[in-house]
Amino acid sequence: MERQIGEKQQKEKIYKVPSSFLKHAHINLKQYKKLYRYSIKNPNKFWAQQAEKFINWFSPWKKISTGSLKKHNMRWFVGGKLNACYNCIDRHLETHRNVAAIIWESDNGNESRTISYGELHEKVSRFANVLKKQGVKKGDRVCIYLPMIPEIIIAMLACARIGAIHSVVFGGFSAESLCTRILDAGCRLLITADFGARGGQYIPSKKNADKAIAKCPKVKKVIVVKHTGHPITMHRKRDIWYHEAMSEVDAKCPAVKMDANDPLFILYTSGSTGKPKGILHTIGGYLVFVAMSFKYIFDYHAGDTYWCTADLGWITGHSYLLYGPLLNGGTTLLFEGVPNYPSFSRYWEIIDKHQVNIFYTAPTAIRALRHEGDDWVKKTSRKSLKLLGSVGEPINPDVWEWYYNVVGNKRCPIVDTWWQTETGGILITPLPGATPLKPGSAAWPFFGIVPEIINEKSKLVKDNQSGRLVLKQAWPGLMKTIYGDKKRFVKTYFKEVPGKYLTGDSAYRDKKGYFWIIGRNDDVIKVSGHRIGTGEVESALLSVPAVSEAAVVAVPHEIKGQSIFAYVVKKSGAKSDALKKTLNNRVRQKIGPIATLQDVQWVKALPKTRSGKIMRRILRKIAVNEFDDLGDTSTLANPSVVDDLIAERKKYSAKIIKR
Ligand code: WT7
Repeated sequence: MERQIGEKQQKEKIYKVPSSFLKHAHINLKQYKKLYRYSIKNPNKFWAQQAEKFINWFSPWKKISTGSLKKHNMRWFVGGKLNACYNCIDRHLETHRNVAAIIWESDNGNESRTISYGELHEKVSRFANVLKKQGVKKGDRVCIYLPMIPEIIIAMLACARIGAIHSVVFGGFSAESLCTRILDAGCRLLITADFGARGGQYIPSKKNADKAIAKCPKVKKVIVVKHTGHPITMHRKRDIWYHEAMSEVDAKCPAVKMDANDPLFILYTSGSTGKPKGILHTIGGYLVFVAMSFKYIFDYHAGDTYWCTADLGWITGHSYLLYGPLLNGGTTLLFEGVPNYPSFSRYWEIIDKHQVNIFYTAPTAIRALRHEGDDWVKKTSRKSLKLLGSVGEPINPDVWEWYYNVVGNKRCPIVDTWWQTETGGILITPLPGATPLKPGSAAWPFFGIVPEIINEKSKLVKDNQSGRLVLKQAWPGLMKTIYGDKKRFVKTYFKEVPGKYLTGDSAYRDKKGYFWIIGRNDDVIKVSGHRIGTGEVESALLSVPAVSEAAVVAVPHEIKGQSIFAYVVKKSGAKSDALKKTLNNRVRQKIGPIATLQDVQWVKALPKTRSGKIMRRILRKIAVNEFDDLGDTSTLANPSVVDDLIAERKKYSAKIIKR
């Protein structure tokens, strides 16, 4: 695990802050250094100042923070009262009633809608009344399974307005994934649409929802947004049309006074085991952290149009498509579609059409677009852009340079932002007016954040040596718990290294204090930036009767970053080709199309330790045809299995499954 990185990063290029940027940046290098020092020495004072500056409180907190990472019971702004929806909308009304809150761009580009803060206020208030009419109360969990249309934001904010907890499930997840999440959070109401549109294809949201709810008896009501207008089946007693319900209620609904430590939302993410974790974030700390990090990291100024391409089903969508921009009174662009439809110029055309100033996307999208050549970019202007962002996985230095040179015309700093669903907001990132950029590095810690790199024995490692990335000091955006599973919360993040938050990533820090994220060191795979647990995929594989054992690992992929490689021990008599198809279909059906298998390797047995743990380290190497240097295999219960695996791999021609 401990590794000397060597000369590589000594040679890398450094990009200075463009002078045009220095003029308007909120924070320059000197200010960053000073404020960073202050933020980690006096966290309480620092966060209290930010909380006053960025958030409107109905009544002030009694204590800035209580608890500790050691006891995994940190609470922020204890006793403070506020409302998230009020902070996103109502308090801006006086000055922003006619300012665009949301610009929506449809999948095919034939339609866009602008929703002002005034209009958003009315729609959210009405929908909050719809929820109340259906019996939704403070603390109830509401599941939202919608495509990227304005109603998803309206629904999330309406929940926040009345103190209900939203649980957004990514629209691309399967009926089974939706069902598991509804059951885990105990949701009684679901909001969906007839269909979603993505890249000219229609996704049967309502049909998936019906299938999911068939196994969720507690869901009594479903609210359906008419989006594409394609025919669907409505269940007379259970289903309600959104537009009808909206016309039957009042446009006034007070924002409920909530406690700073009441939950705001649950968002499911994958971990090492089969069951997804319901990450629970609370109102006060999350809002303070997201509002202030948005302003400084994206150097947001009034009048900027900001676009984050992430789906609202992921944390990036929650924090930096919805909450961050709206808390700052900003204009946020919501795009329903994909980067390659109708053409590979789509993103850049949208930037020109809506004069986007700040653009935040994922390396997988940048890689895919770069692959198609520069012409698709160059035929657009992109003059409005001033800042670019990247998130979700490491960005390869050449891809970074392409993003910088071709997309940003060497004018726009790139913020490579490292964070996680659990952290609420960005923790390691350049600040655009302050940090000289190194392509491929997420640079320096954000205010209040103290990252460390440690080895297996929890000792700090030297510069340029890789190890486990941990966080030493608490910050307000950190999740409160895993919904319904406090034990797992403690075990996953706090047990191994007491007093610190364990990220699950490995990284190293160079001599100039720049952090370089290497990737996950647990059983999580990042496919196109989406987090998928090996356990989830393995359970799906094992649900096929012809499978007796299965293990999956990540292999590098040119566009997706990583993809899923499966080792399967099949029962005798099963036909290989037919079974491969079944396995792939089963994984897509259980998880969703994002979990497509790259390849399946049939094997006689899996390498296991004496305690029965699969040795993935070996499987990872063999998958990429690295047969030497497999490390210590003496602890295997069945060492001879390694030779079999190598022989099996060599024999197999790397045939990619047809989708
Ligand atoms: C994991 C968290 C929170 C944003 C979306 C992903 C990886 C995230 C970077 C980056 C290298 C990154 C890490 C992390 N990751 N950003 N800038 N450079 N790796 O959230 O789905 O919770 O995944 O994404 O491995 O642990 P998530």
